[in-house]
Parts: sequence; C-alpha cells; structure tokens
Amino acid sequence: MSRPSLPVNEAIEMRRSTKDFNDTPIDPEVLDEILRLTVAAPSSWNLQPWRIVVIDQAEDREKLHAACFNQRQVLEAPVTLVFAVDHQSWKADMEQVIEQAREREAWPDSYCEIARQAIPGGQTALEKAGLLREYAIKDAMIAATHSVLAATGMGLKTTFMNGWMEPAVKEVIGAGDREEISIAVLVTLGHADEVLPNPGRLPADKTVYRHRLA
Ligand SMILES: Cc1cc2nc3c(=O)[nH]c(=O)nc-3n(C[C@H](O)[C@H](O)[C@H](O)COP(=O)(O)O)c2cc1C
Repeated sequence: MSRPSLPVNEAIEMRRSTKDFNDTPIDPEVLDEILRLTVAAPSSWNLQPWRIVVIDQAEDREKLHAACFNQRQVLEAPVTLVFAVDHQSWKADMEQVIEQAREREAWPDSYCEIARQAIPGGQTALEKAGLLREYAIKDAMIAATHSVLAATGMGLKTTFMNGWMEPAVKEVIGAGDREEISIAVLVTLGHADEVLPNPGRLPADKTVYRHRLA
C-alpha cells in the first residue's frame, strides 16, 4: 500500500539526525511501508545481501543500547533497524534473483546466462581480494538510505548510527557466532517533538568537483 509522503527532495531537506525521541509508537502500517521501500533499493547484481532486523522489544532495545555505547536514542526510539549483511547469501540467492528477473522480462535470456557466469566469478574475485564484506556493506548502506528517506517522507525522525560494537550488535540479532554476517549500519526510527538544527555542510567547492579533484 502506498501512503502519502513528501516528495524526495523535501524529505532530503527535512531529514535531521534525532537523538530525542518521544513515546509515540510507530504505526505498524507505516513501518511495513518503510520496510517495503527499504528493500526496493538497488544492489550489485540485484543480490540484496542485506539482512535487516527490526528491534522493537524492550529487552532487545536495552541490550542494543548497551551495544551502542549507551547512546540514548536507541533506548528512546521505538524501533531500531539493524542493517546486517550476509556476504555469502549470493550463493543461495543468485538463481532466484536471475530467474525472477527473467520471468519479469527485465533480464533477457542472454543476460541471465551472462549473470550466471559473471556473478560467481566476480564474487570469488572480491572474496580473494578481501572485498566481499565491503561490497555487501555498500548495498546495505543504500538500503538504509532508502529507509531513512522513506521514514522522513512519512513524518518520522531517524538517526543513522555507526557508534556500536559489532560483536555485541551481532549477539542482539542472534548472529553472534556467524562469520558470514557483518553489521553495516543501524537506523533508529520514531517520533520527536523537536529536532536539532541542521549542522550545515562544508562549502560545495570543498566536496564537489568538475572533471578532476583539485
Ligand atoms: C553513517 C553514519 C553514522 C552515524 N553515526 C552516528 C552515531 O552513532 N550517533 C549519532 O548520534 N549520530 C550518528 N550519525 C549522525 C551524524 O552525526 C549526522 O548525520 C551529522 O552530524 C549531520 O547531521 P544531520 O544528519 O542532521 O544532517 C551518523 C551519521 C551517519 C551518516
């Protein structure tokens, strides 16, 4: 179901990292819509290595709060999304991804055959170079950005979070002993009465270049 939402450019302008959430719960339909738009994100070869865990139970929120150096927003926000990745999931998912794209006539047969050859070769090369985890995390960060903009568009407040201890976060999501799982980022979601002002950005001539870096 599609819900009323801000245009993307307004959601981008409105989004602010929020540390003080109030007690208002998130409408379950809104959360479902955020998750639907989150997993609509693109990914390398459409392999979707993200594994997103919704943390909304009081006990889990307390454990996650401790895993996040006691950052208060994790305790205050009704929901935190843990964006984990499974670096090995491509092996099990590749055929389903290709077949679905073929059935939907998104990928012609010839491209499906290329994908069947290229995905294992590419993923194995990435693994040898020690980059498989990094590439999965790139995909998850894009999905996390979808979640934040979708949530902002529907009136929620959010915070991206890198401040956490990976082993402890993996314990909370039940993946403490799984080496193929890494944590990309956390996103808190909820309502807030006030948000911090925009802290501003570096001047664009320091971060955006035409043709070459200076
Ligand atoms: C990847 C990422 C990780 C972040 N980690 C944290 C965090 O652990 N705790 C926190 O309070 N804010 C965190 N932030 C929020 C940043 O401090 C914030 O985005 C930045 O100051 C710009 O403010 P704005 O989001 O309101 O534009 C993070 C932001 C990003 C994008």
